[in-house]
Amino acid sequence: MTVKIFETSEVQDFLKTVSGFDQAGGNERAKQIMHRLLSDLYRLIDDFDVTPEEYWSAVSLLNSLGGQTQFGLLSPGLGFDHYLDMRQDAIDAEAKRNGGTPRTIEGPLYVAGAPEAEGFARMDDGQDTDGETMWLTGQVRDVNGNPVTGAKVEIWHANSKGGYSFFDKTQSEYNLRRTIYTDAEGRYTARSIIPSGYGVPEGAPTDQVLKSLGRHGERPAHIHYFISAPGYRHLTTQINLAGDPYTFDDFAFATREELVVPANRIEDSAEIAKRELDGPFSEVVFDVALAETDAPELQIRHKRPRAKEDEQDQASQLAGTAEV
Ligand code: DHB
Ligand code: FE
Repeated sequence: MTVKIFETSEVQDFLKTVSGFDQAGGNERAKQIMHRLLSDLYRLIDDFDVTPEEYWSAVSLLNSLGGQTQFGLLSPGLGFDHYLDMRQDAIDAEAKRNGGTPRTIEGPLYVAGAPEAEGFARMDDGQDTDGETMWLTGQVRDVNGNPVTGAKVEIWHANSKGGYSFFDKTQSEYNLRRTIYTDAEGRYTARSIIPSGYGVPEGAPTDQVLKSLGRHGERPAHIHYFISAPGYRHLTTQINLAGDPYTFDDFAFATREELVVPANRIEDSAEIAKRELDGPFSEVVFDVALAETDAPELQIRHKRPRAKEDEQDQASQLAGTAEV
């Protein structure tokens, strides 16, 4: 088909009307962004001769994504989360804010309000007997190697089936979610279970999109972190366990070379006894370097809707850092 109408003044005027350019009310940025978005999509429809059938099947797909709250799942799969990280890295580089452990995506499965502990916490509820015992530990330091005492280390990860508590209703509340404050040496330690990789639910709208691209929806075994301390830049990151078939083939593009960490199996009975465990375990060590900052807004995580986190929490976080 050779019909091309996008460049006509009729369509161009129509786009301005649709975007509210002739209206006094509304929000200027919303108008500009909508105009650009619609222009790009209208052009795409013209260029690819998108048929009504294709258009309405896309609308239906968006409805199912929204109906199953899967936009947050599809977003990393389409690389948006990683793209925002790439932009933030570039913004930091331009501002000469270098150093510290690299960031990587938060993912859609954080839940606020996990139980807090000093130095050590057990994260699993003991119900998941398929999970190998994991001893997860590390030291939080500044970029000069000095320990950071009292850093807030929030950790969350999946169980042996790849499911996250709260979203997976078979798990107990806050299972595999803890907040640990570092001890006098800047150390945190968690007893937990080795997580399995996560897979996008089979047949779900997100899966349909990925399949249409010939892609899979698998993530390697990984562990999420938020790390913060007064005077330091808030860090959102995660580690990917080495040796997983998806370590370097992550559908969510979260893997970074510096964040691939081995799980070392330990069978030595003295080491087992030292940790008061009943048998062999796997140790995962993740040390973190935090960059300094005076800017309070860089000391907290960016705002986004999160399970069990409301505006109030965000406001008190900000107030907490502003005091110091
Ligand atoms: C998704 C799931 C995760 O556990 C994660 O860390 C990132 C993304 C997802 O389903 O999109
Ligand atoms: Fe995850």
